[in-house]
Amino acid sequence: MRVFVTGASGWIGSAVTAELIASGHEVVGLARSDASADAVQAAGAEVQRGDITDLDSLRAGADGADGVIHTAFIHDFSSHEDAAAVDFAAVNLFGDLLEDSGRPLVIASGILGTVSVETDHVDPATAWSPRVRTEQTLLGFADRGIRSSAVRLAPTVHGDGDHGFMARLVHIAREKGVSGYVGDGSGTWPAVHRLDAAHLFRLALESAPAGSALHAIDDEAVSLREVAEVIGRHLDVPVVSIAPEHAVDHFDWLGRFLAMDSHASSAITRELMGWEPTHPHLIEDLEAGHYFRPAQTASAA
Ligand SMILES: NC(=O)c1ccc[n+]([C@@H]2O[C@H](COP(=O)([O-])OP(=O)(O)OC[C@H]3O[C@@H](n4cnc5c(N)ncnc54)[C@H](OP(=O)(O)O)[C@@H]3O)[C@@H](O)[C@H]2O)c1
Repeated sequence: MRVFVTGASGWIGSAVTAELIASGHEVVGLARSDASADAVQAAGAEVQRGDITDLDSLRAGADGADGVIHTAFIHDFSSHEDAAAVDFAAVNLFGDLLEDSGRPLVIASGILGTVSVETDHVDPATAWSPRVRTEQTLLGFADRGIRSSAVRLAPTVHGDGDHGFMARLVHIAREKGVSGYVGDGSGTWPAVHRLDAAHLFRLALESAPAGSALHAIDDEAVSLREVAEVIGRHLDVPVVSIAPEHAVDHFDWLGRFLAMDSHASSAITRELMGWEPTHPHLIEDLEAGHYFRPAQTASAA
């Protein structure tokens, strides 16, 4: 298939692009800067210059595509509502473009603190994230002749080069001289390796039934205290409990997420899609050491 991929230069989108090309698909990747365009081209994809706020560039990228995978997102937690609105508009545009075509539209979604199994759906009216509305709209595209699916990613998509939540935790532990966990450390998070997640995106593109919510989840519930312990050991800093009321002081914006206890399964996805993760689990990946290289940096992904 010829596939338009947004976020093709990103952590997950670049792995999706590589997975698609390795499987014989053609990729057109959205790129908003020269650096991103170079990365997309170096991966063997065609470049569509543009921005997710510029619907004409998305229209041009999707033109002639057999399917769309949407992973771009503006990760600025200080204006999450605005970012979610841009995302909603982009997904609706893809809905209009693919209407009655039977073609696949796959988007990146999430599960943090909200759903446990694929058949769970959160009411957008009570959800903490406005992105729930986007997923709900996308799944409804099944009734408009689109083979839509949402890949709900575990809150940590880990691997070598990660600049997301785990890298941020390592960065904070280094900066503060302690490796923290919230409260009694009983909180848990699901996790998935980036390459396993990318594989699921490809399977979704190729064969997910219309309107499927799929779970890119390998570890169902990793103890955040165990994560703090591995980080503390590798950095040789004490492992300490941070009181829930001080979580945001200590962890900044990440404190809000760490306070959310989350666990989820992917049993339905594995059965439906024949997906089986083969890459390291989160603790194994942290133990491998690449998160602790001095050059590893963390941004607000
Ligand atoms: N990583 C995780 O642990 C995780 C967990 C759950 C859900 N997710 C979701 O999965 C998706 C992909 O995440 P990621 O970790 O791959 O994020 P990422 O590494 O931050 O990549 C984001 C991608 O979006 C692109 N982008 C951002 N703003 C853009 C704009 N205005 N116009 C065009 N492109 C733009 C970036 O382009 P540049 O390269 O030019 O910056 C990059 O390609 C997102 O929806 C994210 O919320 C991720």
